[in-house]
Amino acid sequence: MSLHIEARKGQIAETVLMPGDPLRAKWIAEMFLEDAFCYSDVRGMLGYTGNYQGKRISVQGSGMGIPSSLIYYHELINEFGVQQIIRVGTAGSYQKKVKLRDIVLAMSASTNSSINKSLFHNADYAPTANFDLFMRAARYAKEQDIPIKAGNVLSSDIFYDHDPKTFALWAKYGVLCVEMETAGLYTIAAKYNVKALTILTISDSLVTGERTTSNERERTFGNMVTIALDIA
Ligand code: HPA
Repeated sequence: MSLHIEARKGQIAETVLMPGDPLRAKWIAEMFLEDAFCYSDVRGMLGYTGNYQGKRISVQGSGMGIPSSLIYYHELINEFGVQQIIRVGTAGSYQKKVKLRDIVLAMSASTNSSINKSLFHNADYAPTANFDLFMRAARYAKEQDIPIKAGNVLSSDIFYDHDPKTFALWAKYGVLCVEMETAGLYTIAAKYNVKALTILTISDSLVTGERTTSNERERTFGNMVTIALDIA
């Protein structure tokens, strides 16, 4: 049992899928895992362990943003021996070519968060995906004919930006989309030498202003979860 996760030692698998939304964790456990049980509901941040094609897998909500998610990443790695974290989340597109419902593999994560600035004495650290997980995800998507895009994403501390045009600068430098956690995940994974990958589905577009409906989000979330479970 850790401060924010009620599980007993051994109840959490070495590989954990992590959506931001705890109800997504419940949905993944119910839709994809056999013999799933809930190991924690502290603060409503649900976590489950079950089996997928003979593999033991856990699914844990992380909450939104780097500060919340880092609490869960830290405790999973340090108190429960987790070796692989695969974030499955949604993102807002920064590019015309990145359309609603597209799947994006985050090769790297830029950020406007100050966490790494303070850690690296104001220099810029480049949070990067685990190459092995990344390659396996790309290969599996190709085999299954699931189109993916891959590149740099922005992990932003701000959902409702003061200036709606801020995204244009990141977009000019090729950033594909915005979410709120990956720079924290890739950094802590590097610190503790565990593997991490973020897989995202585009839920809205900062370029066109379109958004998916919650029904659509559920359907497209399924493809992303299939990739994550296969490479787990
Ligand atoms: N901003 C940040 N995170 C997000 C967004 C967004 O527009 N859409 C989905 N996750």
